[in-house]
Amino acid sequence: MKVGFIGGGIMGEAMIKSLLAKKVAMPGDITVSDVSQSRRHALSKGYGVKATANNREAVDGAEAVVLAIKPQDLSKVLSEVKGLSLQQLVLSIVAGASLDSLCRGLDHSCLVRAMPNMPARIGEGMTVWMATADVSQHQRELARSILAALGEEIYVSSEKYIDMATALSGSGPAYIFLVIESLVDAGVHIGLPRDIAEKLVIETTLGSARAVKVMAKHPAELRNMVTSPAGTTTEGLLQLERGGLRSLLLQAVIAAYNKAKNLGAK
Ligand SMILES: NC(=O)c1ccc[n+]([C@@H]2O[C@H](COP(=O)([O-])OP(=O)(O)OC[C@H]3O[C@@H](n4cnc5c(N)ncnc54)[C@H](OP(=O)(O)O)[C@@H]3O)[C@@H](O)[C@H]2O)c1
Repeated sequence: MKVGFIGGGIMGEAMIKSLLAKKVAMPGDITVSDVSQSRRHALSKGYGVKATANNREAVDGAEAVVLAIKPQDLSKVLSEVKGLSLQQLVLSIVAGASLDSLCRGLDHSCLVRAMPNMPARIGEGMTVWMATADVSQHQRELARSILAALGEEIYVSSEKYIDMATALSGSGPAYIFLVIESLVDAGVHIGLPRDIAEKLVIETTLGSARAVKVMAKHPAELRNMVTSPAGTTTEGLLQLERGGLRSLLLQAVIAAYNKAKNLGAK
């Protein structure tokens, strides 16, 4: 599968790495364009892909064109790569860029909008995506194989869910990283060596998430299983409830969602 990437930054590189690791594409199938000479050098040297400064070159002959640039660079890129054929699928991961704005900017209707997240860099991402009506079944499968290389993927039937996913799974890793950082600092505060505190928190976070997934029980039920009457956990939980943890998380997600919607409205 010939894939052209426009933007070879953090996410562009993560996608190239995953496509190669999962053998969805071979190095010779991938062309990446980037304005940065050092990024082009790093990508061609690191992955054996073709790297160019010319966005048109990345697009020419590509079955799938991945837009992996920042929102502020999008309009320039769209005007440069205009004139694609319907056989060319455009897959955008640009935050806030609606299918309608991409369609107008490119004068092209064969589009997929996706919102991956940062763990895609290690093949453990969560991507939410949708396609326009002009995307053929074959192209959908193409898009799915690209996104599945990044980790889990879920197709949604309405674009509003992409803005919601931006606030939840897109921004989510940052929330979890903050929780991990805070718990490690708390462990250090009560006297644990930092390396031990880090290991305890990382394994607890991973194990707890996996327990929710594997045991398929409501999180409250799992929480009750580790909360004994008048025990230590209930003391800790009391402080989290006092501090308003639930409502804080709710407010964080609502704020991120509003921001995502505003980005799309611009
Ligand atoms: N990072 C995430 O976790 C994440 C998650 C989901 C979605 N996204 C979305 O993915 C997109 C890319 O994010 P990122 O974190 O990978 O950004 P990034 O690291 O800044 O990568 C973008 C790359 O594109 C290059 N570029 C800028 N203008 C260009 C142009 N006109 N033509 C070709 N290349 C150009 C940039 O070069 P310079 O740096 O020299 O400008 C940079 O190397 C964003 O729209 C973001 O919303 C990111």
